Amino acid sequence: MTENLLIHKGNKEDKYKTLLPQIASLLEGENDLIAAMANVAAALKQTFDFFWVGFYRVKGNVLVLSPFQGTLACTRIAYGKGVCGTAWKEKQTQIIPDVDLFPGHIACSSDSRSEIVVPLIHDNEVFAVLDIDSDRLNSFDQTDADYLEKVAALFKNCDF
Ligand code: SME
Repeated sequence: MTENLLIHKGNKEDKYKTLLPQIASLLEGENDLIAAMANVAAALKQTFDFFWVGFYRVKGNVLVLSPFQGTLACTRIAYGKGVCGTAWKEKQTQIIPDVDLFPGHIACSSDSRSEIVVPLIHDNEVFAVLDIDSDRLNSFDQTDADYLEKVAALFKNCDF
């Protein structure tokens, strides 16, 4: 790994452009899903200083809390519930500019104001979601969605 790892300057897109190959190289030699998720959560938190970054894995009919960086969080989320359960059900990234306006939003922390959830998909099945919370309104847009979907695709070599 180079000494430049996780030193990111510039605007949001510049940061993602630098971070993406670093995450690709982190995951290239690691097929353990939990280990991969742990480092990706840390890399995103360190780069953007998001309020909360983490994963939930599909286990049966619920999402179960998995590696994350941030404050304590709800451990289980049902299919179709909250932003995470909706991303699972719809198999689509959810961008929520104001969590208070999302019906059924699950508030793990009252400090969370906006959120993005990206599904991790293998063989057309969602096996996990990447959830990022901000303590500011309107933190996420299509740029985040595009790059975070590229991050999600990098888990393809992991054992499920
Ligand atoms: N807000 C999420 C729950 C998970 S926490 O944000 C970490 C939701 O509505 O699904």
